[in-house]
Formats: sequence, structure tokens, C-alpha cells
Amino acid sequence: MKLIFLGPPGAGKGTQAKILEERYGIAQISTGDMLRAELKAGSEIGLKAKAVMESGALVSDEIMIAMLAGRIDQPDCAKGFILDGFPRTVPQAVALDAMLESKKMVLDAVIELKVDDAALVDRIAGRYTCAKCGAGYHDTFHKPEHSGVCDKCGSVEFIRRADDNRETVAARLEAYHAQTAPILPHYAAKGRLHSVDGMADMAEVTRQLISVLDGVKAA
Ligand code: AP5
Ligand code: MG
Ligand code: ZN
Repeated sequence: MKLIFLGPPGAGKGTQAKILEERYGIAQISTGDMLRAELKAGSEIGLKAKAVMESGALVSDEIMIAMLAGRIDQPDCAKGFILDGFPRTVPQAVALDAMLESKKMVLDAVIELKVDDAALVDRIAGRYTCAKCGAGYHDTFHKPEHSGVCDKCGSVEFIRRADDNRETVAARLEAYHAQTAPILPHYAAKGRLHSVDGMADMAEVTRQLISVLDGVKAA
């Protein structure tokens, strides 16, 4: 299955993609995670992206389209992928259409996670991840079973993202409404768009996604 998860910062794209990649044997492709890896490695792309990401704006279409083109050919994408954070602008959506067509790939579904702006700041401000395995947690909504210890790998080191502060979140939300939301009609016109209530609790969102995806698979 080839899927796109769309939604504002903090909507739960990464949380749900990580749960579903196992269930369906498909790969989560988070362009935000890819950029953060470039940054950590100190690459040219990472250096270019750092200030842009910290301001909450979007990295150039040119860089992002090139980055994605190489990624969907990797062996872990053989059974499909979930695009988490791409496309994020109309030119990226148009480039993705051409890329998929040239590879004779068909997009199965685009899922919009709908969440009120007011809920997003609290979700993002409370978010942290395990420094060793990348498992995601939240100060209020998803604590590790034993405080300060990662459920998955036992590590006691955690990190918070540099762009997860209230000022940057406001800029990221603005970028979402101005540049990303306009791609929703692009997919609605193709009959590929499904909306899921991202305000529900995590397990309920997963149930709703599975019901949509099992429907898409059976069709
Ligand atoms: P990116 O990393 O993609 O960030 P984002 O889109 O802002 O989204 P987030 O990762 O913040 O949110 P999420 O939806 O994954 O939420 P999560 O599941 O973690 O991009 C970062 C930056 O990179 C961009 O600003 C841009 O500069 C650049 N970039 C990336 N891709 C680009 C592109 N294609 N073009 C240009 N620039 C690009 O959940 C959030 C928190 O809420 C977690 O703590 C979680 O535990 C909790 N939570 C999740 N679901 C629920 C629930 N149902 N109830 C309660 N809490 C919940
Ligand atoms: Mg994410
Ligand atoms: Zn861990």
C-alpha cells in the first residue's frame, strides 16, 4: 500500500505511521526525520535546513523532492510506504504524481488527520523521544511505563526537538494552513482523500485508520 498521511504539526502522523508500518509491512518515510538525520550528520543539506526548520518555515521544494525520489526505491519500500510529511506544497504534490507515474506506482490513499489548532500546541510542547531507539512519548498523553525509562529499549536518555517550542509551533501551523492545506483539494479531486478524527485518543485513531485502510485494501 502506498499512503500519504497529511495533517498539521502534532496531528499524530508519526505516532500512527509507526504503529501501522508493522501491521501492514510498509515503511514510514518521515521527511522531517530524514532532515534531522542530515542535520545530525552535519551534511550540506542539514546545514542548509537547520535555520529554516528552527524558524518553522519549509525547506525548499527542490531539496525535498530530490530527497524523496531516492528514498522510495529503497528495499524496505517494496511492500509500500507511508509518506509522513511529504508532500507539503502543491509543487511537491505535482512532482510526486510524476514520480509515481514514472515508476508505475499508484497511490492507494491520502489520509488527513484532523485536529483543532488549540490541541496541537499542548501535544507538541509535551513531546519527547528516546535518544537511542526513537520511540515517541508525551509528558501527559503517553508516558513510559516506568518513569524515565524507555519501554522499548530501556534507555534513560531522551531528546526534545529544537522546533518544539511555542513560537516555532505557531509558525509551523501557519505554514501548514498557507502551504500544505491547499493540496487537500488536489487529492479530493482524484477521489483518494479520506479524513480521520485526530482528536480521538491514540488507540481510537489507530482503529479508525485500520478501518479506512482495510477498506482501501479490499477495494
Ligand atoms: P516534521 O518532522 O514533518 O514535523 P511536523 O509536520 O511539524 O509534524 P510533527 O512531527 O510535529 O507532528 P506529527 O503529526 O508527526 O505528530 P506526532 O505523532 O509526533 O517536519 C519538521 C520540519 O521539517 C518542518 O517544519 C519543515 O521545516 C521541514 N520539512 C519536513 N518535511 C518537509 C517537506 N516535505 N517540505 C518542506 N519542509 C519539510 O504527535 C505529537 C505528540 O502528540 C506526541 O507527543 C504524541 O505522543 C502525541 N499524540 C499523538 N496522537 C495523539 C492523540 N490521538 N491524543 C493525544 N496525544 C497524541
Ligand atoms: Mg512527525
Ligand atoms: Zn528506546
